[in-house]
Amino acid sequence: MHAPILTVSTLSARIAGQQVVEDISFQVPSLGVTALLGRNGVGKTSTIKAILGLIERSGEVTLAGERIDGEPTHKIVTRGVGYVPEDREVFASLTVAENLRLAERDDNPRRELVEKLFPDLVARSAQLAGTLSGGQQQMVSLARALLNDNELLLVDEPTKGLAPKIVAEVAETLEEAARTVPILLVEQNLQVVRRLAAGAVVLAGGRVVHTGSAQALLADEELTKRLLGVHGGDDSNQPAPAPHASALNPEVRQ
Ligand SMILES: Nc1ncnc2c1ncn2[C@@H]1O[C@H](COP(=O)(O)OP(=O)(O)O)[C@@H](O)[C@H]1O
Ligand SMILES: [Mg+2]
Repeated sequence: MHAPILTVSTLSARIAGQQVVEDISFQVPSLGVTALLGRNGVGKTSTIKAILGLIERSGEVTLAGERIDGEPTHKIVTRGVGYVPEDREVFASLTVAENLRLAERDDNPRRELVEKLFPDLVARSAQLAGTLSGGQQQMVSLARALLNDNELLLVDEPTKGLAPKIVAEVAETLEEAARTVPILLVEQNLQVVRRLAAGAVVLAGGRVVHTGSAQALLADEELTKRLLGVHGGDDSNQPAPAPHASALNPEVRQ
């Protein structure tokens, strides 16, 4: 049994003086994808920002057993936490290649891995990122995080607003990426969650209301509906496109 890569304990956070996350505790195993779920506005993005020290927070956060909750954001990031933010945030007026080069943090960026995962980006390396489709911009954003030798990726709603075919491509890329780095994934598309996630942490009103196996949660229609609502599961009644996730460590403990 591997030690968790991330431990969040009694984490609270504020934005502009207002409490957005309260007394949150959960763990992210050192393998595979852990889903951070919940309806709109429950505090998923705020939790990620609090882990990164982007917003005022209190409580304990450890990365590979070491406290990071007192560290400034740049220290946390260089310690090996990659962030793929909710709105992609590529540099629109720079080329794909320039976007990627700016993201290289380590002496030996993983260019081969990125070229293998994103052949389309290699073909578009001279194209301005602002002229890419939403899905392609999401790939740039993911590629930026994967270039560095991270211990953990925090990925916030990577499939939001993308066409179904592109959603599947992003999911496939995340599945590949999760073989090399554990991922805490905020995701509203339950089909993607079903395909990728071993563990699930569900928030409501800034608090953790459920932790456990993602597959067990999604298999329980009643619980899924109560915790996540009907929204977000448009095609969640369809069978999962790939069963790989069950092979991953399903453990997420409070
Ligand atoms: N910049 C902000 N200023 C004030 N309140 C905010 C800000 N960002 C988020 N919030 C509030 O914090 C709560 C949690 O938001 P967020 O973490 O973005 O939720 P989620 O990612 O789950 O949709 C919401 O009530 C939201 O209105
Ligand atoms: Mg959010």
